[in-house]
Amino acid sequence: MKKIVVNLGERSYPILIGEGLLDSKGLFDEFIKGKKVCIVTNSTIAEHYLDKLQSNLTDYQTSAFIIEDGEQFKTMRTYTQILDFLLSWKVDRKSTVIALGGGVVGDVAGFAAASCLRGINFIQIPTTLLAQVDSSVGGKTGVNHKMGKNLIGAFYQPSCVVADLSTLDTLSSREFSSGMAEVIKYGLIRDSDFFDWIEANAVNIKAMHKPHLSHIVARSCEIKAEIVSKDEKEYGLRAILNLGHTFGHAIEAALGYGQWLHGEAISAGMIMATSMSKAMGDIDDSTLVRVTKLFSEFNLPVGPPESMSKQQMKGLMAYDKKTVDSSIRLILLEQLGNAYVSNDYPDELLDQIITQALK
Ligand code: NAD
Ligand code: GLY
Repeated sequence: MKKIVVNLGERSYPILIGEGLLDSKGLFDEFIKGKKVCIVTNSTIAEHYLDKLQSNLTDYQTSAFIIEDGEQFKTMRTYTQILDFLLSWKVDRKSTVIALGGGVVGDVAGFAAASCLRGINFIQIPTTLLAQVDSSVGGKTGVNHKMGKNLIGAFYQPSCVVADLSTLDTLSSREFSSGMAEVIKYGLIRDSDFFDWIEANAVNIKAMHKPHLSHIVARSCEIKAEIVSKDEKEYGLRAILNLGHTFGHAIEAALGYGQWLHGEAISAGMIMATSMSKAMGDIDDSTLVRVTKLFSEFNLPVGPPESMSKQQMKGLMAYDKKTVDSSIRLILLEQLGNAYVSNDYPDELLDQIITQALK
């Protein structure tokens, strides 16, 4: 088992990564505070893993709240339903919420844990690749609003993250690819050697060879932990984790949440951000070709959907919460492995990139 620590002073916590962790009784007992543990999960994940998890929590009083499966349920309504359940189950400040699932379950359950009784103990057990490498780490919780994605939420750190690689065995290949978009992102923004490694090991990663999975999850979590430790509330550096997201969130909103997976949308977005970096003179053509090839290798889209219009893209980008003082904040690449935040770019260039992508 690998252990990575997110260093946040008294709110520091470990990320435990390994195979079969859900089978090890007592593994995260030290992170459970009181007697009551409510597992929040969805109907799909419950079928695979709920019994297994509950059978290892026999020392506690457990309950399960099962939400419907899908991004379209990451809403205030689901959030309220979870709170209704927790409060009627009479949780107290020592109770624990465990999110068992992907980013949707983790985000909405985390937001409920953050606000129930002004914050109860929270544990993340991410079961998608995307959640293991990204959403379960760093404390962003929340729900979507009709005006845009993740517009309502809170920063609320879990007390522990348990990434059981064995849960990825039941994940669809499309969902696995979606997670790979975030994995490749870490190489692009912070570690060109990691990008090279993913390129060189793509075959074994696609075959879901466990030592390779362990490496991509651990290296991704190390990078995210380092960034979050330096800038928990996203005053600066943390924003680089949003490479491609301003474009991607616009795609998700335009198509309707859940049509394109999050990783698919940001994959197209990262190609647009890399193209913009090339237009800014920072990235050369061969790098753009390499980046495009790697996303394609994992069956990820390298451009926005044809059905989307240029006006739609621009309008929705302006609603994204990365808009600061009405200029759209972009994450760009200075070079492969090094990203920066920019509000200072020629508007015509952004216009040109959007026009090219949606021609
Ligand atoms: P998801 O939670 O919708 O899960 C994807 C699908 O896989 C679902 O149908 C789910 O039921 C199924 N599933 C989950 N685990 C499974 C397993 N082990 N076996 C079989 N099926 C399984 O999607 P996701 O990609 O995990 O997360 C996307 C969400 O995460 C988005 O809402 C996005 O905004 C959010 N996100 C949040 C952060 C953050 O920092 N909080 C970061 C990135 C993404
Ligand atoms: N996924 C972006 C962040 O956690 O900041």
